[in-house]
Order: sequence, then structure tokens, then C-alpha cells
Amino acid sequence: MDFWTVSLRILLFPSALGLCSDLFHSECYTVNGADYRGTQNQTSLENGKPCLFWNETFQHPYNTLKYPNGEGGLGDHNYCRNPDGDVSPWCYIAENEDSVYWKYCDIPSCKMPGNLGCFRDHGNPPPLTGISETSNKQTIQTCISMCRRQRYKFAGLESGFACLCGNNEDYKKHGEAPSTDCNSVCFGDHTQPCGGDGRIILFDSLIGACGGNYTMESAVIYSPDFPDTYGTGKACYWTIQVPGASAMNFNFTFFDIKDSRDMVELLDGYTKQVLVRFDGRNHPSHSFNVSLDFVILYFFSDRVNQAQGFAVVYQAFKERVVGKPKTIINQTQTELITQTTNLSINAARSSKILYVITTSPSRPTGHMPGWTVYALTALLILTILAIITKALLHVSMKSPRLSSPTSLDSCHRGSTGEIWSIFYKPSTSISIFPKKIKSPHDDRNPLVGE
Ligand SMILES: *[C@@H]1O[C@H](CO)[C@@H](O)[C@H](O)[C@H]1NC(C)=O
Ligand SMILES: *[C@@H]1O[C@H](CO)[C@@H](O)[C@H](O)[C@H]1NC(C)=O
Ligand SMILES: *[C@@H]1O[C@H](CO)[C@@H](O)[C@H](O)[C@H]1NC(C)=O
Ligand SMILES: *[C@@H]1O[C@H](CO)[C@@H](O)[C@H](O)[C@H]1NC(C)=O
Ligand SMILES: *[C@@H]1O[C@H](CO)[C@@H](O)[C@H](O)[C@H]1NC(C)=O
Ligand SMILES: *[C@@H]1O[C@H](CO)[C@@H](O)[C@H](O)[C@H]1NC(C)=O
Ligand SMILES: *[C@@H]1O[C@H](CO)[C@@H](O)[C@H](O)[C@H]1NC(C)=O
Repeated sequence: MDFWTVSLRILLFPSALGLCSDLFHSECYTVNGADYRGTQNQTSLENGKPCLFWNETFQHPYNTLKYPNGEGGLGDHNYCRNPDGDVSPWCYIAENEDSVYWKYCDIPSCKMPGNLGCFRDHGNPPPLTGISETSNKQTIQTCISMCRRQRYKFAGLESGFACLCGNNEDYKKHGEAPSTDCNSVCFGDHTQPCGGDGRIILFDSLIGACGGNYTMESAVIYSPDFPDTYGTGKACYWTIQVPGASAMNFNFTFFDIKDSRDMVELLDGYTKQVLVRFDGRNHPSHSFNVSLDFVILYFFSDRVNQAQGFAVVYQAFKERVVGKPKTIINQTQTELITQTTNLSINAARSSKILYVITTSPSRPTGHMPGWTVYALTALLILTILAIITKALLHVSMKSPRLSSPTSLDSCHRGSTGEIWSIFYKPSTSISIFPKKIKSPHDDRNPLVGE
């Protein structure tokens, strides 16, 4: 049973959690392996060509003379690297008869979590049987987003421009292929691998979602739109609640945020207090522990300076740690942000709709947090409903037989009073405008009319 079979089982059967805590520890967290720093020194493990040393490839553009400070992971070694933003790590090889002087490396340990692999597609039936589309602007995330919107579990890309969605657990039915078979560049982003001819590269459609709820003991959470650059004006929340956990370790294995107003925060899930904040100036440099079983991850982006975002691995520990205070234990690399935020949640219940009004944690002003948008949407719907109701009532107003009920005299104000008195008839009582009932003299509500 290989790595991904195991992780898929875990995803499908959450009760089987805790079997394996290293599930999400890949050597790469970027889709093109730009962060690969492993030690594979031939193009594939079986019958691969040996790589040349970067400190000896002076006839080529990439060598340690040109990049003496370890840029792109180059150094006095011959390990596969991706210093030029290609679709995967590669290395120079001793030129052979076809004058091929470099090759992509097939590195089994370098597959970002959520990249399920490269598979054969004989088309009949295809590995994913949901909807599909083609686009000459295809990127991995445009495909994943489409599949996620349609509630598919998997997204697959082929030949650089085709996107397929599906829930087919048997996507391996035609067999797996070397990762280098899936290195056709995406038409919309030449640094991303988008499958190949008869080869589909598969992704979990949760990658790059804006928000989610995690209860697994270990997982990787990516910034919204990953591996594309994150969108503007995002405000995303992920809850991480692992029952029985005594602490959680967080490791930002990849972090690319340049704008000081774009940020990632961890909040105490219970008190909504900000535990730590990272932004364009303050990058995470070590992993750290939080002694909680409930943490909220928050991401915010403003309207400028997009970047690729982050990948964070969390790992919950179940064993009881005695004698430790029930707050953050240790935070080696950042100052603890003492400012407590006010994530006050006012839930107001009407007969049909629960709307939640909230302020966002220490968010720069001028942007709405996601939950407020829902609240406003709910109010907008209610408003529209009320307007429609009023319009209908106007029609019925034309009937002279409309009589004024006696039970709600306080609403009685001229012609509009009659409308509202109908509106508030006990049998059809709508309680979302209590103000209207309580203060009959306040008729500035646009719903009341002239
Ligand atoms: C690759 O690395 C292994 C172990 O580190 C070493 O034994 C082998 O000689 C290396 N091969 C090349 C071509 O450098
Ligand atoms: C390149 O680095 C390797 C490993 O440190 C070393 O053995 C080799 O002599 C170096 N080559 C040159 C030209 O410096
Ligand atoms: C996460 O849980 C909350 C509360 O149970 C729910 O409202 C929200 O829709 C969930 N989010 C996702 C992405 O499932
Ligand atoms: C965090 O992740 C990086 C990259 O995978 C790894 O090298 C490092 O060892 C991890 N740190 C801890 C404390 O697990
Ligand atoms: C976090 O906690 C684990 C388990 O208690 C421990 O092994 C690890 O060293 C801790 N890491 C840090 C950075 O404190
Ligand atoms: C955090 O850990 C570092 C070493 O890892 C230690 O020097 C420091 O005292 C610790 N701080 C707290 C508040 O425990
Ligand atoms: C949170 O809001 C409440 C009322 O909205 C206010 O009384 C309180 O001072 C606020 N707390 C902080 C830390 O801003």
C-alpha cells in the first residue's frame, strides 16, 4: 500500500485517524517542486541518468558561479532542483547523442500533499467521469475551483488545457505513470504541470479552498487559490478542532506573502484571541506548538500585491502534557500579539433564518469579513421578500374592502398603517421588524413607503 492509498483511506474514514502521523510530510509543498531540497541525484530512481554537479556546469546558465549564495537550492552537489520556475525539479546531464543536456527528475518523495499523482487515461471510460471543460487559460486552480464548485472530490488536468472532475475512487484503474509524464505546462501558467497526452494529473479538490473545517490529527492547509496566486480581497477561516488533542504543532512549510497588509493569523478557537500573526514583514521561520485542541486559521488579502500564499502542516498531539499552562506554550519566532480581538458573534434568530453578525479579528478596516457578507445577504433577501410582500399588498390595497384590524392599533398610521397592520396580523406575524411595532412614529424605514 503506498503513501496516497493510505492518505486517501484516512480522508475517507476519519475514524482510522492516528495510524500514521507522517502522512502529510512530503518533501515538496509547491506543485512544481521549487521547494525541493532533497538528495535525489539522478533523473529517476530506476535507470535514471546521473545528474551533473551544479558547481561544474559552467557551460550552462545555472551553476554555483552565477548563483553562489544557494539561490534555488544550488550548491556543491548534484541534486535535482528547480531554480528557474520550471514545472518540476530537473538537472543537467552529460550530453548524449540527442544533444539533450538536461532532464526532469521523477522524484517519488516530491509530490505536494493533495496532488494524487499522474495516471494513465485510455479514455474509455476516463479516470474521472464528471463534467469537463477545456480552456486556453487553464491553471491547476481554475480546474480545481470548477470541480469544487460542482462538489466533486477530484480534479484532473490533461494536455495543458483540459480539466476533468469526478468522484471516481478508482481513478487508478488504468495505472499510475511517472510524474514526468504529467509535465506538460498549463496553458494559463507555464510553471505548473497540467498532465500530458493520455496522462492525467489528479488533485484533491479541497486544495486552495477559502475556508474549511478540519478534525483530522494531521493535515496540510493551503492558502486560497493555491497553487495559483491568492485572489484579492480574500477573508478565509479554517477551523481546526481535534477532539482529545492536548497540543498542536504548526509548521509553515511554504510561505510567500509580500504585502504587509496581507496576513495569516492563528486564533484561539474558544476565546478568539489572536495567538500569532504573520504577514509580508513577519514570516514564520520555525514550527511552533499551541496547547489547544481548537484553533482558527484566518487569512486576509487586500487589493494589491498578490503572491502564492502558504502551506501549513498541523499535527495534533494526544498525550497529556502535565504542568503546562493552557495557553500557547512556546513561540520561538514571533512576538505574541497581545491585542485581543473582538470576534463577538451575535446570532439572531428569526423564524427561518439564522444570521450571524461578527467583527473580524484585527482585520484592516474597510473590508468585510466573510460572515458579515452572509448576514447582509440574509438581510438583503429578507428586504427583497418584504418589498415583494409590500408590492403584493399594494395590489390588494386597491380593493376598498380592506379593513383595519384592531389588534395592532399602534401600527395604524394612515394608508401605510393599513398595509403594515395586515403585515403584522397575528396569524402572519413576521418578527424581523420589531422596531416597527415598538416605535410607530418612526416611519423612515424605506419599506414603509410614503
Ligand atoms: C548519488 O548519491 C548517492 C548517495 O548519496 C551516491 O552513492 C551516488 O554515488 C550518487 N550518484 C551520483 C551520480 O552522484
Ligand atoms: C563540486 O562539489 C563537489 C562536492 O563538494 C566536489 O567533490 C567537487 O570537487 C566540486 N567541483 C568543483 C569543480 O569544485
Ligand atoms: C464549517 O462548520 C461551520 C459550523 O459548523 C459551518 O457553518 C460551515 O459551513 C463549515 N464550513 C465548511 C467549509 O464545511
Ligand atoms: C517543518 O517543515 C520543514 C519542511 O518540510 C521541515 O524541513 C522541518 O523539519 C519541519 N519542522 C518541524 C519541526 O517539523
Ligand atoms: C511540540 O510538542 C511536541 C510534542 O510534545 C514536541 O516533540 C516538540 O518538540 C514541540 N515543538 C516545539 C517547537 O516546541
Ligand atoms: C521557547 O523555546 C526556546 C528554545 O526552543 C526557549 O529558549 C525559550 O525560553 C522558550 N520560551 C518559553 C516562553 O517557553
Ligand atoms: C468587544 O466588544 C464589546 C461590545 O461590543 C466591548 O464592550 C468590548 O470592550 C470589546 N472588547 C475589545 C477587546 O475590544
